[in-house]
Amino acid sequence: MKKQILAAIIIAIALPALAQETKEIKLLAPDKTRGLPLMQALDARASARALDAKPLSDQDLADLLWAAYGVNRPDGRHTAPTAKNAQDIDLYVCLPHATYLYDPANHLLKPVIATDLRPALSAGQEFVKTAPVVLLIISDYSRFRLDDTDKARFWAGMDGGIVSQNINIFCAATGLSTVPRAYMDQTIIKQLLNLTDTQIPVLNNPVGYPRR
Ligand SMILES: Cc1cc2nc3c(=O)[nH]c(=O)nc-3n(C[C@H](O)[C@H](O)[C@H](O)COP(=O)(O)O)c2cc1C
Repeated sequence: MKKQILAAIIIAIALPALAQETKEIKLLAPDKTRGLPLMQALDARASARALDAKPLSDQDLADLLWAAYGVNRPDGRHTAPTAKNAQDIDLYVCLPHATYLYDPANHLLKPVIATDLRPALSAGQEFVKTAPVVLLIISDYSRFRLDDTDKARFWAGMDGGIVSQNINIFCAATGLSTVPRAYMDQTIIKQLLNLTDTQIPVLNNPVGYPRR
């Protein structure tokens, strides 16, 4: 209950600010030529938690999002597969000043809430609070149209895991640091993002330049 009141207060403060300060952000076209060859990227992949707080460049952010879950075919399918092609994944982009939803079809960011979600994502891991961006992977399992909820939740986890691995491999290929994370405060995140009962925060990936 305490958490719900806290979330309601944060939303009440954040919403008017959202209208004033945050607009859609058109992302740069992805650079599909960059990065290490696949086998070298796999060789380099490792979880890293020492992230520099410096913001990602516009190109790095655009490429990261396209690699994670961008549209890569004329029929609107994505860089990550989804069970039954349900396209159940929504990718939230948590920046220090606001949280956005990645719109893969138009390759842009839509403002969601003018609040910093990183404390709710950190769940006791301090480095998350200063990561320049955290990608929050959410599955809406209603899109599978399955009667079996256990199965739908299982598929949600698998689809989310694949998007996370796209992020992991992109980061390994381009010298960025990341770690897939299951820990986060699900209750507060669901409240703040106004998620439905069928939307599950699956994983999150803080991303940044390596801290030297
Ligand atoms: C599903 C999943 C959830 C994870 N959750 C967390 C997490 O909440 N926090 C964290 O620091 N690392 C998390 N990790 C990262 C693992 O600790 C890490 O992958 C493991 O120690 C192996 O290290 P490596 O990724 O460098 O191979 C998670 C990894 C996976 C696959």
